[in-house]
Amino acid sequence: MRVAMIGTGYVGLVSGACFADFGHTVTCIDKDARKIEQLRSGGIPIYEPGLDLLVASNVKAGRLFFDTDATQAIREADAVFIGVGTPSRRGDGYADLSYVYAAAEEIAGLVDGFTVVVTKSTVPVGTGDEIEAIFKRVRPNAQVAVVSNPEFLREGAAIEDFKRPDRVVVGTDDARAQEVMRELYRPLYLNETPILFTSRRTSELIKYAANAFLALKITYINEMADLCEAVGADVQQVARGIGLDGRIGNKFLNAGPGYGGSCFPKDTIALVRTARDAGAPSELVEATIKVNDERKRAMARKVVKALDGAPKGKTVGILGLTFKPNTDDMRDAPSLSIIPALQDKGARIQAFDPEGTPEARELLRDVDFKEDPYAVAEGSDVLVIITEWDQFRALDLDRIKLLMKKPVLVDLRNIYKPADMQARGFAYTSVGR
Ligand code: UGA
Repeated sequence: MRVAMIGTGYVGLVSGACFADFGHTVTCIDKDARKIEQLRSGGIPIYEPGLDLLVASNVKAGRLFFDTDATQAIREADAVFIGVGTPSRRGDGYADLSYVYAAAEEIAGLVDGFTVVVTKSTVPVGTGDEIEAIFKRVRPNAQVAVVSNPEFLREGAAIEDFKRPDRVVVGTDDARAQEVMRELYRPLYLNETPILFTSRRTSELIKYAANAFLALKITYINEMADLCEAVGADVQQVARGIGLDGRIGNKFLNAGPGYGGSCFPKDTIALVRTARDAGAPSELVEATIKVNDERKRAMARKVVKALDGAPKGKTVGILGLTFKPNTDDMRDAPSLSIIPALQDKGARIQAFDPEGTPEARELLRDVDFKEDPYAVAEGSDVLVIITEWDQFRALDLDRIKLLMKKPVLVDLRNIYKPADMQARGFAYTSVGR
């Protein structure tokens, strides 16, 4: 099959490279000439483990191309994917669909013969109908089927998630489009991935419902963590105790500093807007957003408490800035709330992140960025783990202890054991234990 992928952001690039790896011929298109140039010369604009090798091998095999001009790729395509961004619109939180609609207009002007137009971007319910209306207006005679095919990739594990998904969701009633989509995902039949065909609106909603549910699940265990702290229980054991119940499941029950990233914060807000407009408000998702926002500030208070309530003039060492490990993504990272809250209280910040520092420099002020965890520990009054990068899991704690002014550790990801840390002479605080 021939695929045109509009947008070489996270979703577009990973999906394009994986489709090429399935054996399809894929052209990834982006208006940003610098990005296309970078990709053509083997550079990858985002940090995603394994993506560089996957892109390189498929380019070499002659299945993956990059272009600023969409004309030829769209004319030849069996399927054109829209994988452009849908950021939160400033001010009101609705998903900004201007890039999606602009892509639809461009595609409408270029398609030739029967073409499946697929939204991979996360778009609110009804967007497929709007795209269809654009086609009717711009090219009334075009033979297209507009399909929803949401992605469920996690940053840092995106290739694995694409190639071994729990399910593929395809929203369309068009039999010819179903055939094309089946063919595109055929390699997944080998490992018996369920492919769920639904109506387009249902498929659009599945994406939001999934992300909001996961955000809610995390927020629930975070609330339980607070309760554990108040009553002297251990949230990790609570998570295990409830997670072994197959109806609950053990994933996404790690208590921490609150969810962040490019998806959960934006998608929960967009879902709340859609639900309100539809006259069916989601009070649970509204509460999730509120509790999660409040949580990030509460984490700063935890650090202040570890400093005996006197942060002024103290040095706080931060390990991990990105919203989670294995990404350089800083969008809605808890560090962006925690660090300014500590600075407001007069603390000095020194920090290290394995991949996020270039972006963090743009977003944080007056932070002394260091080269490694030990440089962060040096002279710190407290060390705070915000992101659970693997390299923070086996720190040389004796060395850290010697370097710090005082051995005080706040572990917001529960990667160390309280008893071990106490035995090593650390004043240790974690989450819900
Ligand atoms: C999320 C979903 O997991 C993907 O299925 C979805 O495709 C993607 O959004 C998207 O809509 O594009 P992602 O944002 O990459 O993926 O990251 P997650 O691994 O889901 O983590 C999100 C946040 O929740 C992070 O801040 C993470 O630290 C936090 N989290 C996750 C917890 O605090 N506890 C957990 O147990 C799990």
